[in-house]
Amino acid sequence: MAGSRPVSAWTLFLSLLVLIGCIVVPGLTVKHENFKTCAQSGFCKRNRALADDASAQGTSWSSPYELDSSTLQFKDGQLTGILIKTTTANEKLRLPITVSFLESGSARVIVDEEKRMKGDIEIRHNSKVNKKRYDETEKWVLMGGLEASKSAALNAEAEAGFTKVQYGPGDKFQAIIRHAPFEVEFQRDGQTHVQLNHQGLLNMEHWRPKVDKEGDNDSGEDESTWWEESFGGNTDSKPRGPESVGIDVTFPGYSHVFGIPEHADSLSLRETRGGPGNHENPYRMYNSDVFEYELNSPMTLYGAIPFMQAHRKNSTVGVFWLNAAETWVDIVKKPASSNPLSLSGSSKTNTQTHWFSEAGRIDLFVFLGPSPQEISKTYGQLTGYTQLPQHFAIAYHQCRWNYITDEDVKDVDAKFDKYQIPYDVIWLDLDYTDDRKYFTWDPLTFPNPKGMQEKLDESERKLVVLIDPHIKNKDDYYVSKELNSKGLAVQNKDGDVYDGWCWPGSSHWVDCFNPAAFTWWNSLHKYDKFQGSLSNLFIWNDMNEPSVFNGPETTMPKDNIHYGDWEHRDIHNVNGITLVNATYQALLERKKGEVRRPFILTRSYYAGAQRMSAMWTGDNQATWDHLAISLPMVLTNGIAGFPFAGADVGGFFHNPDKELLSRWYQAGIWYPFFRAHAHIDTRRREPYLISEPHRTIISQAIRLRYQLLPAWYTAFHEASINGTPIVRPQYYEFPDDEEGFAIDDQLYLGNTGLLAKPVVTENTFTTDIYISDGEKYYDYFDYTVYQGAGKKHTVPAPEDKIPLLIQGGHVIPRRDRPRRSSALMRWDPYTLILTLNKNGEADGTLYVDDGETFDYERGGYIHRQFQFRDSILSSEDLGTKGPKTAEYLKTMAGVTVERVVVVDPPKAWKDKSTVTVIEDGAKTASTSSLEYFEQQGSKASYAVVKSPNVGIGKSWRIEF
Ligand SMILES: *[C@@H]1O[C@H](CO)[C@@H](O)[C@H](O)[C@H]1NC(C)=O
Ligand SMILES: *[C@@H]1O[C@H](CO)[C@@H](O)[C@H](O)[C@H]1NC(C)=O
Ligand SMILES: *[C@@H]1O[C@H](CO)[C@@H](O)[C@H](O)[C@H]1NC(C)=O
Repeated sequence: MAGSRPVSAWTLFLSLLVLIGCIVVPGLTVKHENFKTCAQSGFCKRNRALADDASAQGTSWSSPYELDSSTLQFKDGQLTGILIKTTTANEKLRLPITVSFLESGSARVIVDEEKRMKGDIEIRHNSKVNKKRYDETEKWVLMGGLEASKSAALNAEAEAGFTKVQYGPGDKFQAIIRHAPFEVEFQRDGQTHVQLNHQGLLNMEHWRPKVDKEGDNDSGEDESTWWEESFGGNTDSKPRGPESVGIDVTFPGYSHVFGIPEHADSLSLRETRGGPGNHENPYRMYNSDVFEYELNSPMTLYGAIPFMQAHRKNSTVGVFWLNAAETWVDIVKKPASSNPLSLSGSSKTNTQTHWFSEAGRIDLFVFLGPSPQEISKTYGQLTGYTQLPQHFAIAYHQCRWNYITDEDVKDVDAKFDKYQIPYDVIWLDLDYTDDRKYFTWDPLTFPNPKGMQEKLDESERKLVVLIDPHIKNKDDYYVSKELNSKGLAVQNKDGDVYDGWCWPGSSHWVDCFNPAAFTWWNSLHKYDKFQGSLSNLFIWNDMNEPSVFNGPETTMPKDNIHYGDWEHRDIHNVNGITLVNATYQALLERKKGEVRRPFILTRSYYAGAQRMSAMWTGDNQATWDHLAISLPMVLTNGIAGFPFAGADVGGFFHNPDKELLSRWYQAGIWYPFFRAHAHIDTRRREPYLISEPHRTIISQAIRLRYQLLPAWYTAFHEASINGTPIVRPQYYEFPDDEEGFAIDDQLYLGNTGLLAKPVVTENTFTTDIYISDGEKYYDYFDYTVYQGAGKKHTVPAPEDKIPLLIQGGHVIPRRDRPRRSSALMRWDPYTLILTLNKNGEADGTLYVDDGETFDYERGGYIHRQFQFRDSILSSEDLGTKGPKTAEYLKTMAGVTVERVVVVDPPKAWKDKSTVTVIEDGAKTASTSSLEYFEQQGSKASYAVVKSPNVGIGKSWRIEF
């Protein structure tokens, strides 16, 4: 944001607190007391206690869950049956289980509870809440990939008490299901990679009536957190009693696990059961507005994606825990010496993870890889791939809380031009509204919003405004009136409209789980309703965890009720994306006949958000540590399938000095979502305000982003078709190189071979870049050569330099002419940079389309494969023709390649002065000049082809 607390809202908030008799003074670090530790969360404590019990009992521990063999059926790629839980009182409870084997190669395990499914339970406090375990998370999250495997088959040779199913590509996968105690082993090529309930921590807290007991309780169980739970002065009424679910997932032979954002922590996740360098608490996922969050912590943040990859040499596997309730994950790494499986190539470590959620079903997907790319692809088939954004959205965004008037916005716009710094989007935080009523403009400070947007449009620039889900509770505000008259707001536990405090003071929350709310929300964005908005306006959905200033843990009470009579407890983590989903639809259809790709920034997220939005890491601080942590945070989001991610450049809170600000821009250009933002209390820091030499340093960084936009857009396109991260960590590119697995401070841009290592420490003028392979790497700016596998190379990094290398073997597309905005580069010619690999070859791709509409879905795009082989550079078509292809190619007919630079070319080229250029359809070959630039010492020579002028949308060859 909008951070959590502006002066004025603080005043409101504080006066409220004074009223209820406790004063909290805003501090500089996170207020731990506002957020639960595991010990303060009933179900977390209970599930950890189970794990402690099991561990204390060692081999004598046995899971009380077994499959009733007589109930098992296998049909159409699906195994169904009843799992029996035996309670301490020797009751037998029936838990229907389904194990689905999917065509995509993943397997899905669902466990539910029969009594609750049938509604054969009693709810306390006369609550109207749904009796079932929440089973609609998938409605918001899954897009496809659920087709059952046609070839999955029972293995007839299974011994008694076991069921074995072969499935997956080439039937290489096998699930071995032990009936008693219940356990599942997932194998690939005969080796076990994932084990469920191997530690015996499967737990489904079954429904039971609350019995008032006197004196001793017979079960011997600690019921203190079963029926209600208090924290920070709020009491959760828990009408359904205890209902948590949990299971352990073991990765034998794996020592690294990644994913499960959002945490301000390293890429390689740490152990969570204490000890030096480890966390004391599990990684928590409970979307929250964490004010001044702390670093290197498993504390929850704004978003949650319960998707984890485990990686070892040559193998990546994964699990996805589809549950929208509060979730914690414990991680323990154990020596694997006693492991009878003794996997070849595996590390000597087993990583044991333990997942538990407060409510809902067990719904778990298992992915067997074997490569990280395959995991990304299969996970994306389920949850959807990154939306291909509008082109402007991958350029530079200028934000501040707040640009205070429409004249201020126009002035900033003009200053960027004056100082020749490109930018595409300017943002308005909260205070553009009339009294914090969304869909309105402050009549005094923004009297002419249309004029402002029209001015921006002169340079094809955009405006993004903040619209949040809390609606000011005020009679004369039509949005509030409609919300209530239509009954579309979230309710409290008694079924009345829930009233909480947020920016506007007393507020109500739109309940986007309700289809009628979805329709209504769309209507609010139409031009006749959101007056003063034009078609170059886009939306920022903030505070959608939801943030509630006076709620428990700054969010809604868990016993609030949503559409379908689901408790807030059930849906909390998908709450944010239901708003984004409705906003997406609204932006798609703002005006009949004008269908364009929406752009939405969301703070809260869950798996699937990548289909609709970009995210940022929330309210960070202007410190070097916050700059440093932004890299693993962005990388983690990428491998968790939501790569359109960034952090506030410059830091939201406090004032960065010039060195920090410059270094932050040099790092920020590597965030897929590149936006500068600042708190209302900070000094203005638009790049043009910074004194030299830092203004130039920052301008150069932004220009480098613009120069490489063709490569960025191509990487976004790849993410949109196969889920690969846009910026990638070392292990993802070099999955065999164990030395690189934990590296999270350098990154690769898509497939380009560009390797950046931003400087994230003060007063640092060299940096060490780790190189995995034996190829030559060239400094991007001066072609200095670095070579040597498996070691770090020291690269100069004076303040004006971004440490950036290009791996040998690539063709990188760029556009070298600086413009005011990316849209104005649309018809500019391209430059291709070639670096040759050991075999003297290079490869690269380029994807380009109109950057705005969905015509690309009907062939309206250019997708080229560039290859350099045997001294010939060629461009081949990778596209598939559609009804819009010819039209689009026509618009691009004049766009050519104006320069080809070959780094470290064969020495023999010294004597050449021309190359032969053959374009498809041309009658004759032409020639272009070739110039050879000799460099000395460690710098590679290079050769430049001038003006080959081949069409970017055409097939052609350049013969050297
Ligand atoms: C929004 O949610 C609806 C209903 O669950 C779903 O069908 C639709 O695909 C979602 N939209 C996007 C863009 O994911
Ligand atoms: C039930 O018994 C356990 C174990 O003796 C004890 O710790 C717990 O406090 C008791 N709970 C209630 C509600 O009596
Ligand atoms: C890892 O994969 C590479 C390439 O596929 C192969 O050459 C190598 O032998 C594999 N190593 C192990 C330990 O499996």
